Amino acid sequence: MCGITGIVSKDRDNIGEVLVRCSRKLTYRGYDSVGVAAVRNGQVDLRKDVGTIDVVDKLLNLSGMKGDRGIAQLRWATYGAPTKANAQPHYGCTADFYGAHNGNLHNYAEYRAELIEAGHIVRSENDGELCVHAVDKYYEETGDMFEAVRLSTRDLKGAFAYAVGKADEPEIYAVKMGSSLVAGVAEGDTIVSSDLPSVLPLTSRVVYLQDGEMVVLTHDDVKVYRVDDGKQLDRQPEISNVDAHAAEKGGYPHFMLKEINEQPTVAQDVLGVLNGRECDNWLRMIEDSSRKYLVACGSSYNAGIVGTYFFNRLAGVSVVPVIGGQFGPMYGNTLDEDTLCMLVSQSGETKDIMNVLNLVKGISKGKTLGVVNVIGSTLMFQADDYVPMACGYEVSVPATKTYFSQSVIFAYLAAKLGERNGFLDPSESKRFVNLLETELPALTQKTIDKTGILTKNLARTLVDVKDLYCLGYGFTDGVAREGALKIKEICYNHCEGMYSSEFKHGPLSIVTEDYPVIFVTTPEDSWMVINHINEVKARHGRTIVVGEFEDSLNHYVDNKIDYLVVPRSDPLLNPLLDVIPLQMLSYYLSVDLGINPDLPRNLSKTLTVD
Ligand code: F6R
Repeated sequence: MCGITGIVSKDRDNIGEVLVRCSRKLTYRGYDSVGVAAVRNGQVDLRKDVGTIDVVDKLLNLSGMKGDRGIAQLRWATYGAPTKANAQPHYGCTADFYGAHNGNLHNYAEYRAELIEAGHIVRSENDGELCVHAVDKYYEETGDMFEAVRLSTRDLKGAFAYAVGKADEPEIYAVKMGSSLVAGVAEGDTIVSSDLPSVLPLTSRVVYLQDGEMVVLTHDDVKVYRVDDGKQLDRQPEISNVDAHAAEKGGYPHFMLKEINEQPTVAQDVLGVLNGRECDNWLRMIEDSSRKYLVACGSSYNAGIVGTYFFNRLAGVSVVPVIGGQFGPMYGNTLDEDTLCMLVSQSGETKDIMNVLNLVKGISKGKTLGVVNVIGSTLMFQADDYVPMACGYEVSVPATKTYFSQSVIFAYLAAKLGERNGFLDPSESKRFVNLLETELPALTQKTIDKTGILTKNLARTLVDVKDLYCLGYGFTDGVAREGALKIKEICYNHCEGMYSSEFKHGPLSIVTEDYPVIFVTTPEDSWMVINHINEVKARHGRTIVVGEFEDSLNHYVDNKIDYLVVPRSDPLLNPLLDVIPLQMLSYYLSVDLGINPDLPRNLSKTLTVD
């Protein structure tokens, strides 16, 4: 949620253009409102309004703003409605101070009242404004910007990061207190940002900040300090090998379609990672724990459900999938040092997951294994170890390739674990791992090729549908939930994903003539799914099937387009492939509905709030 970018430059006067160019790469973090504060000759020009960066740039000519330093912010609204007044950056009491934040201040209401009581002029209902006022307040007391920024963090509770400056001082300051922050050093510019994609257009020399640290940007250097005692830390820039062009559409109309099409390469890349030396440590961590949880949110949770089936089937090991926010209330008092939490998060910043990380590390002294995509994220740094998803950037807000990578990771780890603990015959483990390595990438491509046109045609028949179900059984449980989540998220339809045998326990009452129900299955389970299909058919519902071609299933499909046939493969590869037609169906339906699937309303890709 929200993306901040601050730049200090040596010679340039076109700070607006550079801030817009770099900030555009953070669009996935928030697109409710956008603002830029540009500083020239000690004067701050602050422009902001509601809308995406392109809309606001056009409206206010952000790109044309002059200056040699400044801060930009893209907002995903939490505290305060998405209005112009609540857009960031903000001034302090006067235009001397300017700044913007990402995250949430838990003591917002009390602190706002306290500031107002003390005479501060607070103009918005947005918590980010309070960060600037806190700096303003401590500057009054100390007359020193470094101290003011450092001390300001004491007043603010929650998980956040912010960047601030003073009009007549050449530096920009930023603090990391729970939300992500990365700095960069270019020739003639320095930059600080919520995420790497906005740094890379300027430089690949990056410095990752840790919680409790602050960074001071001058035009030629970034210096890192500890917030609590102000001590300078020796933090040299490292070279990021992330490709700056990875965050471009590469000829596709949307990032989502590009990312769906990248899944064959993702399969190859993640299996390459799993085949490396570190895998032994990940397996040992799983083996050595007596209680194992897979904790995640949204799509990552759905992949976790698929993972649970793999761990049971291939390793005879119980791994409990838990939604991030539910973990503490459900299991918080039962953890001990033998507990392992596999924390699955594309962004590596999701607050619900970070809460679990802190709970497990702090109270129980259990172990944490991150499964993470964003290199340099908080989860990557703070988990005891991490498995990289190896997907490169996932820019589109709906997760696709990262969900896919997560499912592959669990399938692989389960097979290896099964071999080590004797549950699986070594030849069977080798056979399955070999299948993953040699057949999965090509089968993934084949699935995209085979179901692309089918899903496009099927989507056209669903444009007037407002309500549907997506059901899975056994291994396809998580897959069906993921398909439903995609449809909800980017088509704004109600689509519930659930276990197909549960449907008769209530939801079946919704079925009337032509009511659509999608069934996702594998050849192993289709005999059971056919029972559930019959229950819908008997009420004249429309059944849509995702799975391998089987005569027995074909019998229940009225229209050819209602059968999304995936290529024939090993039954254990099926759950990995079945999600692809669902991703594409949601994509084409979203486009047919006139929605931009990359930026669905009300959402943000990185949810650093509770
Ligand atoms: C859905 C989607 C979200 C995320 C969820 C968790 O397409 O992208 O449901 O999966 O917000 O995010 P991460 O994996 O970054 O923790």
